[in-house]
Amino acid sequence: MTIDVTSEFDAAAASYDRLVGASPGYHRNLSRSAHRMRLPGEGAGLHLLDLGCGTGASTSALLAAAPQARVTAVDASAGMLAKARQADWPARVSFVHARAEELAAAGVRGPFDGIFAAYLVRNLPDPDPVLAGLREALAPGAPLAVHDYALDGRRRSRAIWTAVCWSVIIPAGKVVTGRAGLYRYLWRSALRFDTVDALAARLRGHGLVDVRTATMPGWERGIVHTVVARRPA
Ligand SMILES: C[S@@+](CC[C@H](N)C(=O)[O-])C[C@H]1O[C@@H](n2cnc3c(N)ncnc32)[C@H](O)[C@@H]1O
Repeated sequence: MTIDVTSEFDAAAASYDRLVGASPGYHRNLSRSAHRMRLPGEGAGLHLLDLGCGTGASTSALLAAAPQARVTAVDASAGMLAKARQADWPARVSFVHARAEELAAAGVRGPFDGIFAAYLVRNLPDPDPVLAGLREALAPGAPLAVHDYALDGRRRSRAIWTAVCWSVIIPAGKVVTGRAGLYRYLWRSALRFDTVDALAARLRGHGLVDVRTATMPGWERGIVHTVVARRPA
């Protein structure tokens, strides 16, 4: 079954924060990934892009890692963005309604001193043109951090992912949002998406360098990874 990812996120927006708030480590792990970008000097003078910002959880993580940065946060779902805009943000944070595939047309242009894409790339029907565009939008030497369910390819990790999805994530999603489609899709999409090594190779294939991967503690070990890569200086 295929789903329209943007409409599903529109429908999930009202309860999204409640659902991820109940997930131990969701915010902490986003913060881990943002810190792994090693943004210099508290972010002073930097312009960062949070692509697929959703309700702003990744935007907050980026700001925690670089409190003085200017952040442009972009999402294709009007519903998720409306939730994000309800929070108090510094004036340096702006939200843009756009698809990752059409950033330039929406006026979102680099150079960015860092790009964060948390739980986005796995959702793209064709990630390569988007990643090629992101490489061009990075300033020389600047990092792209992809944070996602990109499994390590071990049978054990696939089994844990399937068990957690069907015992916790899909039932909780159904109870909280009244719909299970997005959460069944989440399960399937992670099994189909790149392994973490394939994702790292994909980024290298786009000419990014200094590619590093790191996982998360707890049950997400080997399941959620940060892949940080840089545009050559
Ligand atoms: C799982 S949410 C993650 C949100 C946020 N980054 C976080 O970490 O909480 C994925 C977000 O990606 C957005 N998204 C999916 N496909 C997109 C696309 N092609 N362009 C822009 N945003 C997209 C969805 O609307 C959704 O808000």
